Amino acid sequence: MKGIILAGGRATRLRPLTKITSKQLLPVYDKPMIYYPIETLTTAGIKDILIIVAPEYAGQFLNLLGTGSEFGAKFTYEIQEEPRGLPDAFILGEQFIGNDAVTLILGDNIFDHNFSESIQNFQKGGSVFAKEVPDPERYGVIDFDEKNNVMSIVEKPENPKSNFAMVGIYILDNRATAFAKNISPSERGELEIPDVINQYKDCGELKVKVIDGSWHDAGTFDSLLEANNYWAQKNKKIK
Ligand code: G1P
Repeated sequence: MKGIILAGGRATRLRPLTKITSKQLLPVYDKPMIYYPIETLTTAGIKDILIIVAPEYAGQFLNLLGTGSEFGAKFTYEIQEEPRGLPDAFILGEQFIGNDAVTLILGDNIFDHNFSESIQNFQKGGSVFAKEVPDPERYGVIDFDEKNNVMSIVEKPENPKSNFAMVGIYILDNRATAFAKNISPSERGELEIPDVINQYKDCGELKVKVIDGSWHDAGTFDSLLEANNYWAQKNKKIK
């Protein structure tokens, strides 16, 4: 199993915080944001990790993270010239993925949840994760029945069919790259992750699990503040 962390993009919503650095390098309590997705992957046993970054801040990522040895991992870097959407990670990562399965995690998604079991027991198809939220229209929305059969996944729908967001970690078999190459950009000009995941659904090979641990998508001022508060509280409780 390989790991990819997508930490590209310009994060214009977080200006001026992101005027001179990348969103994924901003602090979340006592460490840079990207440490959280790195630890999510390494805790689950993934040591071979591709980090996709925007050209402007590639040097900062390299200075901070280096070879990955500090994390007991091996890091490879790839530059994403333009933010072309999440599935672009599977296209940029084609050679890196090789013949393996891959877990993609977004560089601004911060989980307090252990994915070890799902990652270590993964065999084929796709596994995605859902979390109930008050504002599903901000996310990819996943609708499923009581037996966890997925009915639909839609990116930022005006009328969400459920209150479950599809969170930013995806465990996929080797078809991810081919599926990403099949799709076209949406109206906002980006490849959309539901268009990849729906191809696993159409083959009857998609699984969804609801996560009970906390999840923050730290892409707005409020969610960034919430993530900081959550981890500050959590670290104080543990000490
Ligand atoms: C992306 C995905 C969306 C997912 C979300 C999770 O949205 O497109 O499906 O629910 O991440 O953080 P973005 O944050 O790029 O708007």
